[in-house]
Amino acid sequence: MAIRPIVKWGDPVLHAPSAPVAVGDASLRQLFVDMVDTMYGAPGIGLAAPQIGVGLRVIVIDLSVGKDPSQLIQLYNPEFLSREGEQKEDEGCLSIPGHYGSPVRPEKVVVKGLDPQGVERTYTATELLARAFCHEIDHIDGQLFVDRLSPLKRDLLKRKLRKKARSGWEE
Ligand code: NI
Repeated sequence: MAIRPIVKWGDPVLHAPSAPVAVGDASLRQLFVDMVDTMYGAPGIGLAAPQIGVGLRVIVIDLSVGKDPSQLIQLYNPEFLSREGEQKEDEGCLSIPGHYGSPVRPEKVVVKGLDPQGVERTYTATELLARAFCHEIDHIDGQLFVDRLSPLKRDLLKRKLRKKARSGWEE
């Protein structure tokens, strides 16, 4: 196990776009292992590399949180092939503990990326899985769910988060 500390809102790595992974990056396998361990340890249903302080375009998702190995999705350099429809549900983030929001997300997405072995994978997702893809791909674009709320809700939440960031995220 290699559970890594989760970076919180306010850390610059979360608010800047991450870099594409170069093919054949030797440290990639270990990064995936650490990310999956950290996601399960949290526990959470998704994690992006910047959340453990690594500014690379790598995401992991598992709606079963480790109960069903077939649900584990591990991708680097993911991108949307399509986004359609709309949904709006409560969302949280391991980097923003204790706070939730309901950003507008597409109802259906198709995402393409490379798995840890470098094999191209394409996923068609709806409902919670579509939201998870959008949330994690937002992370590698330097966006958090807070940034997608209405201006009023966003400003209110950001004020609270700035306070928490100043206090070092003590619970
Ligand atoms: Ni998140």
